[in-house]
Parts: sequence; C-alpha cells; structure tokens
Amino acid sequence: MDETILVTGATGTVGSEVVKQLSKNALSYNIKAGVHSVENANKIQQYDRVEAILIDYDKQEGLQVAFKGTDKLFLLTHPSSKSAEHESNLVSEAKRSGISHIVKQSIMGADLEADVEAMRLHRQAEKAIEESGISYTFLRPNEFMQGFINFQGPTIRNHNAFYIPAENAKVSIVDARDIASIAVKSLMDSNRHYNKTYLITGPEALSYHQAAEILSNATSKKIQYVNISDEKAREAMKEAGLDDWLINTILDLYSYFRKGYASQVASAVEEVTGKKPIAFAQFAKEHVDAFK
Ligand SMILES: NC(=O)c1ccc[n+]([C@@H]2O[C@H](COP(=O)([O-])OP(=O)(O)OC[C@H]3O[C@@H](n4cnc5c(N)ncnc54)[C@H](OP(=O)(O)O)[C@@H]3O)[C@@H](O)[C@H]2O)c1
Repeated sequence: MDETILVTGATGTVGSEVVKQLSKNALSYNIKAGVHSVENANKIQQYDRVEAILIDYDKQEGLQVAFKGTDKLFLLTHPSSKSAEHESNLVSEAKRSGISHIVKQSIMGADLEADVEAMRLHRQAEKAIEESGISYTFLRPNEFMQGFINFQGPTIRNHNAFYIPAENAKVSIVDARDIASIAVKSLMDSNRHYNKTYLITGPEALSYHQAAEILSNATSKKIQYVNISDEKAREAMKEAGLDDWLINTILDLYSYFRKGYASQVASAVEEVTGKKPIAFAQFAKEHVDAFK
C-alpha cells in the first residue's frame, strides 16, 4: 500500500512549494495538505493528487483526524510565542499515530541559548522530536528571498525602496523553493536523511545594498535600500498590524544580522538536491512583476 505524507503549513511560503513538488515527484505517495483557513485552501488545490485537510494547531481533536494513516510528516508552524508548544503537541500526536519520520522546518541559529526567541523555540521543538524517538530531518534555513515580495514588496512597488534596520549586514538569503526541494528529498528518502540537520543558505551572502542593486537591474528601475532605526522599523510594523512578539523577534533577527551571524554560506542545497542553489539575481528576474 502507498505511504502517506502530510504537509503542515501547506498554504504558506515553504509549505505550498513542498506540496507542489511532492505532487509532481512523489508519485508513489498519497499527499495530504494541512490547511488552516478555507480561504487559503485554493493555494494548493491546483496541484494533482493532493487532499486538503483542516488543521488548527490550537485544536487537538482535528490533529488526530489529520494524522490518522499518515506515515511521514512535514512539520511547519507559523512564527508565534506558542510555536514550541504547538510543535510539542504535533510531535505527541505524531508519536500516537505511529508516524515514522518528521521533516521539521527550523531556523538558522536554532539554539537554546540564542538571543532571538524564535531560534530558542525552534531548538526546543527540535529537542521534543529528538526525545520522541521518531526519526527526523531538521531544516535550518536562513532568511527567505521571498521576504522581498511578502514583506518588502509593497514599499518596493509604491516607493521604489525598502526600509530595514540591517545597516551593512550580509545575509546568505535562500529561495524557499530550495528549502522545499530539500524537504521533499528528505521525505521521500528518509533513510538517507535519517537524523540529519541541514543549514540551508543561498549561494552568496549579500548586503541589502547589493540586493537593491540586483532588484534594480532585474526591474530596470532604481530600487533603494534605506537603513532605518529599530524605532522606525517598530512603528512601521505596528502600523502594518504585526503583534508585539513578532515585532520584537524581527528586530532581534536584524540585530543578529548586524553582528554578521547570518552571512555563512552552506553547501546543503547542492549536496542534497544535486543542483546549485538559486541565486538572488535569478529569483529577481523570475519575479519582476511582483516588484513593479
Ligand atoms: N521567513 C523567513 O525568512 C524564515 C527564515 C527561516 C526560518 N523560518 C521559519 O519558517 C516558518 C515559517 O514558514 P513560512 O514563511 O513558509 O510560513 P508562512 O508563509 O507564514 O505560513 C504559515 C502557515 O501556517 C498556517 N497556520 C497559521 N496559523 C495556524 C494555526 N493556528 N494552525 C494551523 N496552521 C496555521 C498558515 O495558514 P493560513 O495562512 O491559512 O493561516 C500557513 O499555511 C517559521 O517556523 C519560521 O520561524 C522563516
């Protein structure tokens, strides 16, 4: 009988790409996509052989239904102060349901002593998986290139500029499609990726000035990076409706970037997928319309 893979966070940036790639490549698997809100379910309904199933991390009963008959799990929760608690519940349910392998979306710098709370929470969640005895693959990506569309997109389109408190920090930003490719390989060939941890970065560390130049070249319009203070960034994020926990986490992340900690370039994409990681220039060229 075919095995079943369940993708959580399936309508998000990484999850939707995992579903897309599984639908195309994992032909001998059943694929279930954990969908949080019905309005967003259309993001994955276009893909063949994918069954959408409602999951709310705050509702344990739904988890039991979703996990029944699942063999492998792609585990991704949205950033929140409750993420470690959510993931610990998901892991307990995975254990009860007999899931054999978990591929967990974590973060670069995951560590119980990290300055950034999201990194501490991710390590806590990784530990819960280690202690469960279920085999795992941990994906620890750096900042996504897709953030330039999802977060900086509006000001790039409207003011030809983006505003970040990163000074001259260099960050080895990674395309979410490369993270998804590693996730899919790890789900389909879990023996090879048994209890491995992958640091996932793009091919080069770029300053935001360099990123602005690459975006300018791709779009044929001058796009500027404006370094701003933490206070200004806080105001803008509050205005955009982000909660205080997320604002503090993002500001701590930029402080981590400014210290140079996010500039490391790792080889996992090429080692696992056999393909070179997607460069930011290619990403920019492929998404020109999102910046116009
Ligand atoms: N962004 C980065 O640059 C970056 C870098 C490294 C690591 N990470 C890590 O990557 C993860 C985020 O990945 P992402 O950007 O792909 O996520 P995302 O785009 O924000 O998507 C989050 C997903 O979770 C679902 N969701 C939200 N609340 C839920 C709930 N209560 N119950 C069940 N599902 C829920 C969302 O569904 P709805 O939209 O329908 O609510 C969506 O499918 C986080 O763990 C973050 O720490 C992010």
